[in-house]
Amino acid sequence: MSDRYLDFTQSAFGKSLSGLLGLPTPPRLKRAEAAYSARPLDGRGVMLGCSGRGELAAVLLTALKESGATVQIAASLVGLAAIKAASAATGVALKTEANPEDRAAAASAFVFDATGVAGPASLRELYDFMQPRVGRIPANGRVLILSRAPADAGNPSATAAAAALRGFVRSFAKEIGKKGATANLLEVGLGADDALAGPLRFFLSEHSAYITGQTLGLTAPSADPGNQFFAPLSGKVAVVTGAARGIGAAIAATLAREGAKVVGIDRPQEEGALGETLSAFGGYGLALDITAADAPQRIASELLSRFGGADIVVHNAGITRDKMLKNMAPHLWDMVLDVNFGAILRINDALLNEGLNDGARMVCISSIGGIAGNAGQTNYGATKAGVMGYVEALAATMAKRGGAINAVAPGFIETAMTAQMPTGPREVGRRLASLGQGGLPIDIAEAVTFLASPLAAAVNGRTLRVCGQNFVGA
Ligand SMILES: NC(=O)c1ccc[n+]([C@@H]2O[C@H](COP(=O)([O-])OP(=O)(O)OC[C@H]3O[C@@H](n4cnc5c(N)ncnc54)[C@H](O)[C@@H]3O)[C@@H](O)[C@H]2O)c1
Repeated sequence: MSDRYLDFTQSAFGKSLSGLLGLPTPPRLKRAEAAYSARPLDGRGVMLGCSGRGELAAVLLTALKESGATVQIAASLVGLAAIKAASAATGVALKTEANPEDRAAAASAFVFDATGVAGPASLRELYDFMQPRVGRIPANGRVLILSRAPADAGNPSATAAAAALRGFVRSFAKEIGKKGATANLLEVGLGADDALAGPLRFFLSEHSAYITGQTLGLTAPSADPGNQFFAPLSGKVAVVTGAARGIGAAIAATLAREGAKVVGIDRPQEEGALGETLSAFGGYGLALDITAADAPQRIASELLSRFGGADIVVHNAGITRDKMLKNMAPHLWDMVLDVNFGAILRINDALLNEGLNDGARMVCISSIGGIAGNAGQTNYGATKAGVMGYVEALAATMAKRGGAINAVAPGFIETAMTAQMPTGPREVGRRLASLGQGGLPIDIAEAVTFLASPLAAAVNGRTLRVCGQNFVGA
């Protein structure tokens, strides 16, 4: 369903009317129009700053250069010596920050290495970097801050300062969302520095257009991330449940866009729609109900015998059966628990036994409903929170096999499911987000594809919210 209010406010008349009435004017987000490219930031200026010794400066310079960006610096900032030393070591050229009047040369992204933040006083270095530049962040611009995880920071003062960055990012994202710009924080665990290039490309490019205000932890990867940034899923077999329509169909198409051979699963009554969806990119359909008693074994056997095993598993199929608990019949409880939660665990048990290749990456679709909770969704909220706990619990097992498991928690997404909502709650769901609008299925698909790919080699056991920083559960 299209967002008519957003379309209206983008017209000249709509813009001036909404301005006159003081109504919100949600930005038109710039989303990726093509697959991953070897140089996603080609020709773009990225302003780099750092606090203190800037432990990541060299890695950042190399990754930015390889992604096609031109790195800009400002003479007056504290961490300049560390960036210059990293430039000398890596041979990556630095440009002085463009004159603010020169829009064409201005930076489109701002990256701050905060690994040197040692306590409350040094947070001032982040302020000095960002505050004078707020007005220079362009529409759809990107801000990315990198720190050590609070637990790795070393002492209580540094730990507290690292935690403070989370609050900064959450608040700053709310300030810049109205121009479609995003701010996110990567917490780089010890041993994860060399796996930074993938997350950097994702969070600085249009592939992450609907993700803002989030903190994502990176840990030492269980397998070499490699540096295949173009068609990173070529040769991989991916299975997606609930692939006939909505978010699942977008996930299947996006995994195929990056080179995967896709096996889509949906209920027998959706076989026609499933075939239609998959035929657009040469995918294979498996019509079965994931809650059927024989489903786990059928999926595992089919994947093994017909495709040689799966490299990517996306548990997307999900349902809602909303009722206040006092009115909820037991079958509504059981049905939601079984589709959204029980089936995932049973299928994974079968796959861990056979049908899953070494290095496999799994992604489960959760929901911000599992974070904030909604009246009438005790069943749904339980399953979606359960999924987040499950990925944390299974992460070590997947890492032992050289793989990973993560979750994506969508916010309000424009699908057949949300089109059914009454107008009032639907408008609230859309506008109560820093980006002022609902997401599209492609936004979830982009996040899933990133997590399913070697670009996210350092991400395991995490939940990434893709919600435009929806204020619900923020
Ligand atoms: N749309 C949103 O705003 C939103 C927000 C948060 C989370 N989610 C989650 O995203 C996922 C996809 O949601 P959607 O909006 O695309 O829903 P949808 O209803 O449009 O699509 C779900 C698909 O899953 C399939 N499915 C349902 N039960 C199945 C079963 N037993 N076996 C096999 N397939 C089954 C359906 O046939 C359908 O094709 C769900 O897990 C949902 O909870 C959606």
